[in-house]
Amino acid sequence: MSDRVVGPNWSDEDQTEGSLRPRVLDDYIGQDRVKDQVRILLDAARGRNEALDHVLLYGPPGLGKTSLAIILAAEMRGNLKMTSGPAIEHGGDLASLLTALEANDVLFIDEIHRLSRTVEERLYSAMEDYAIDLMIGKGPSARSVRLNLPRFTVVGATTRLGSLSAPLRDRFGALYRLDYYDPVALGQIIERSAAILKVPLVAEGTAEIASRARGTPRIANRLLRRVRDYAQVRADGTITRDVAHDALDALEIDALGLDPIDRRYLLDMIQKFNGGPVGVETLAASLSEATETLEDVIEPYLLFLGFIARTPRGRVAMRQASLHLGLPLKDEPERNAQPGLWGLDG
Ligand SMILES: Nc1ncnc2c1ncn2[C@@H]1O[C@H](COP(=O)(O)OP(=O)(O)OP(=O)(O)O)[C@@H](O)[C@H]1O
Ligand SMILES: [Mg+2]
Repeated sequence: MSDRVVGPNWSDEDQTEGSLRPRVLDDYIGQDRVKDQVRILLDAARGRNEALDHVLLYGPPGLGKTSLAIILAAEMRGNLKMTSGPAIEHGGDLASLLTALEANDVLFIDEIHRLSRTVEERLYSAMEDYAIDLMIGKGPSARSVRLNLPRFTVVGATTRLGSLSAPLRDRFGALYRLDYYDPVALGQIIERSAAILKVPLVAEGTAEIASRARGTPRIANRLLRRVRDYAQVRADGTITRDVAHDALDALEIDALGLDPIDRRYLLDMIQKFNGGPVGVETLAASLSEATETLEDVIEPYLLFLGFIARTPRGRVAMRQASLHLGLPLKDEPERNAQPGLWGLDG
C-alpha cells in the first residue's frame, strides 16, 4: 500500500513536498469557496486585532489541509506548532503544548479525530475558556490551579469528520471541507511545481498528468516527478503529452487515475460479490488491505467518481464502474458523481 504511486498519503519520496508547498493564500490554488471564506475570516480577525477563530479542516488526504494551516499561521503572523492526535498521549502533553503558546499562535492538530477522550475534553475546555487546569503536587496534597492562556487558534485536520465528538466539533468557529480539485486547478498546481523543480513541460503534458491525479495535489506532484524521470531517461527531458501518457501507462495508472488496487477493489466487488451490497470488512479481507485504508484512501475517490455507493447494507458497485472496466453490464444502479458525498457519513 505504501508504495502506491497514486496513494494520497505522505511517503518518503515526497520529501521535496516542502519546497512545493504554497506559503501564502494567493499561492494556494483552487478551493475557491474555502479561500473566499478564509479571506473573510482572516480580514475580520485582523480588523478586530483578535486571534483567529478555531478552524477545522476536513477532507480526503493530500488535498492541502496542512498547507492551509501553515498559511493561516503565516497570515496571522503567529507561530505554528504542529502536532497530531496520536502524538498527544496525556493531558500533560497537551498542557505543555498549550502553555508554550503566544497570542495569535496556531496549534495545528493533524488527525484530530484520534485524540484520546481525556485529552479531547481538556482541549475543548481550553479552546473555549483560554485556560487550563493543572494539577500541582501528588497524593492528598495535590491541588489544581487554573492557568490563563493567551488567545491562540486551534486548526484541526481530519479525514473523518464523523469520528469527531460533537462537543469538540462545536468548539470550532469555522469548518471547511476541502474537495477534490478539478483538472484546471490541478494543471495550475503542476505548472507551479514544474517551475519550482525546473522541469520543462508543455500544456498537453500538464493536462495528461492532471487528468490522472485523482483530484489530489499531492498525487499530481508525485506523478510529475515520476514523469520527469521518464522524460529524462526515455526522452529529451521535456514532458510532452506522449511522454506523460507512456510514463503513466507504465505505472499502470489509467485514464481516471485508478491504479491496480482500485481496479481490484471494483473487480472483486463486481465479480466476487455480484456488485454488492458487501460489507467493507469483507472487501478488506478479500483484498488483504486494512479496512481503514479502504475507507480513508480507496473509497473516497471511487465515491466521488460515482463508481460505488455506500448503503446501510454495505457497498454497491454502480453502472459507471462496470463501464469503466469494460465489463458486461448487468442491472447495476446508476448515479451521477456526487462530489463531497464521501464525508457526510465518514
Ligand atoms: N491548494 C494547493 N495549491 C498548491 N499546492 C498544493 C495545494 N494543496 C496542496 N498542495 C500540494 O500538495 C501537497 C500536499 O498537501 P498537504 O500536505 O497540505 O495535504 P493534507 O491535506 O495535509 O494531507 P494529509 O491529509 O495527508 O495530511 C503540498 O505539499 C503541496 O505541494
Ligand atoms: Mg497533512
